[in-house]
Amino acid sequence: MSAVPGKVGWPIVGDQSYSFYRDPTSFIEQNFSNHQSRIFKARFLNKPTVFVGSNKGVQDVLNDDSSALEMGYRAFMYQIYGDNILFMNDEESIEVRKCLCKLFTTHSIEDYQKTIDAITSKYLNDIDTSKPLCVYSVLKQLATEICLSLFLDLDFAHSKDLAVQISSLTKTHWHGIVSVPLNLKLPMGNSSTFGKALEAKASLLKVIEEKLQQKSGFTHKMEGLSFPNSSYIQNHLLLFTSALVPKAIASLLTSFITATGQHDQVFCQDDLLFDNALMESVLLEVERLYPPFIGGRRVARKDCVIGGYHIEEGQALVYLSHSAHRDPDVFKDPEKFDPGRWTNGNAKDKEKLFCFGAGPRACIGKNFVNIIVHTILKQFLQQFRWKLVDNQDLSPKWLPVSRPREAVMVQISREQESML
Ligand code: HEM
Repeated sequence: MSAVPGKVGWPIVGDQSYSFYRDPTSFIEQNFSNHQSRIFKARFLNKPTVFVGSNKGVQDVLNDDSSALEMGYRAFMYQIYGDNILFMNDEESIEVRKCLCKLFTTHSIEDYQKTIDAITSKYLNDIDTSKPLCVYSVLKQLATEICLSLFLDLDFAHSKDLAVQISSLTKTHWHGIVSVPLNLKLPMGNSSTFGKALEAKASLLKVIEEKLQQKSGFTHKMEGLSFPNSSYIQNHLLLFTSALVPKAIASLLTSFITATGQHDQVFCQDDLLFDNALMESVLLEVERLYPPFIGGRRVARKDCVIGGYHIEEGQALVYLSHSAHRDPDVFKDPEKFDPGRWTNGNAKDKEKLFCFGAGPRACIGKNFVNIIVHTILKQFLQQFRWKLVDNQDLSPKWLPVSRPREAVMVQISREQESML
């Protein structure tokens, strides 16, 4: 069995975290090229870390057939979120997953559909199309309203002040997550951003507690589940209502609008409304090229084999969905946005996309997100046509959640006054 190529260097001085955070895709590409391998090792967050960027390697990490890996998010997010499934392993995670999945069955999701329809319809009707819009901000606000309305029973139309106050708390809470990599490198105590995030967390938990007292809606549904520990109800509500979720949804929607608002597409926006197969292919291509999360992290608790390489106990692994989706062994012309590949060469390769993870720890919210994304895009296509303002920088920023580096401006017009 081959050893993973690369050097983990000396503690602290050999650490590559800064290079990774500064420009993750260049860091990855450069290492692939230097080592002639899509799997390599380096010192990251001051730990020997194997970066896994081949499609087969990411499948191995996520399926973890020999149960050799544990989740690797505790160091980043534990203080910000408290005990939740992202930090659990083995029996406990299986038990908690079983509970959470009950919230997102096909039947439960149908219940949420009416709320998603109503919020989307009102929001899109109110959009001012007289000037170009920053599409990411607009869609993030819509995704936030949907998530907070569903999970916390908030009414953005009638309790605007409360809704705005809670949205603002989720933002402050989120900034704590973003500040963590810095804290990990400089373990000298909490930055003020981090401290404020912990205060926001306490306030959000208070709001959640108040909502639980009302014995209705989603929070009440959570109470009906048999979690091994009652504090898991609050902590998972905190996870679901955190800014992470609307940011990820807005990321997918923005990539869709950006990709379909350019003039060099072989399909037009009318086709997307009536051709479901085309719509699915475009969404798959969006997931492939622009997954909201560049990847994830695990730690090996025993020796194992990943992508044909030997991994030692104690090593961290960063799996790179972004790179697995651009692996030329699986996707021909990997950098090209080509929806046609999903009805041709890659028709059977949906399971080689890891936008929502895969295997025993795959995202439990995937079907729920699909409903939100489809509802928003369908209404968007029914009401609007759009094109990007010329000469913009469309390059993406990957961390912590992918989105355009600069605000991408889109000119939207209502269908009847369409410019196409
Ligand atoms: C566009 C939106 C979303 C994306 C791209 C996304 C992506 C992911 C990914 C990649 C994972 C796997 C992490 C890993 O294995 O390292 C994951 C796990 C998870 N997701 Fe999502 N997610 C999204 C929305 C949601 C929503 C709306 C919910 C629930 C409200 C949710 C709940 C979860 C949970 C609980 C896990 C952990 C599962 C476990 O550890 O067993 N996600 N998600």
